[in-house]
Amino acid sequence: MSSRVWGVVAAAAALVLGACAPSDETPAERGRRVYLANCTACHNLNPSVEGVMGPRVLGASRDLLEARVLRAGYPAGYTPARETTLMQPLPYLAPEIDALAAYLGPAVGGKPPAAGGGG
Ligand code: HEC
Repeated sequence: MSSRVWGVVAAAAALVLGACAPSDETPAERGRRVYLANCTACHNLNPSVEGVMGPRVLGASRDLLEARVLRAGYPAGYTPARETTLMQPLPYLAPEIDALAAYLGPAVGGKPPAAGGGG
């Protein structure tokens, strides 16, 4: 009886650990997780749509994401979607820029990998 209970506990622990550190996560999936956790207070859950505060960000290049997220700036020659300066830099996301670019960037062909719904 008690060994069966421990078996269940071990299986549950394995599930929880698996959910926290998925080893087969693609860069785009990681980027989506980072985006949902850090950006959707202002940007839309669906990055192809305007958010409550931030503009649509689908198709943002890696250069734009790096400049914007790390320094609240823009790449040289880029015409910003908005003239406001409300977004604060989030420099702790430096290790995640590649993942964000994989999720949002032009490489995804202008389509959100997860949500549908046109634009
Ligand atoms: C506090 C709200 C807020 C958060 C959080 C936020 N943003 Fe923004 N973002 C904005 C606003 C507002 C703008 C428009 C420019 C401005 O006012 O700073 C913007 C602009 C941008 C732009 C430039 C779009 C363009 O084409 O000009 C990108 C790219 C961007 N955000 C990506 C992100 C990403 C990625 C995250 C998460 C890592 C994020 N933002 C988090 C509010 C936010």
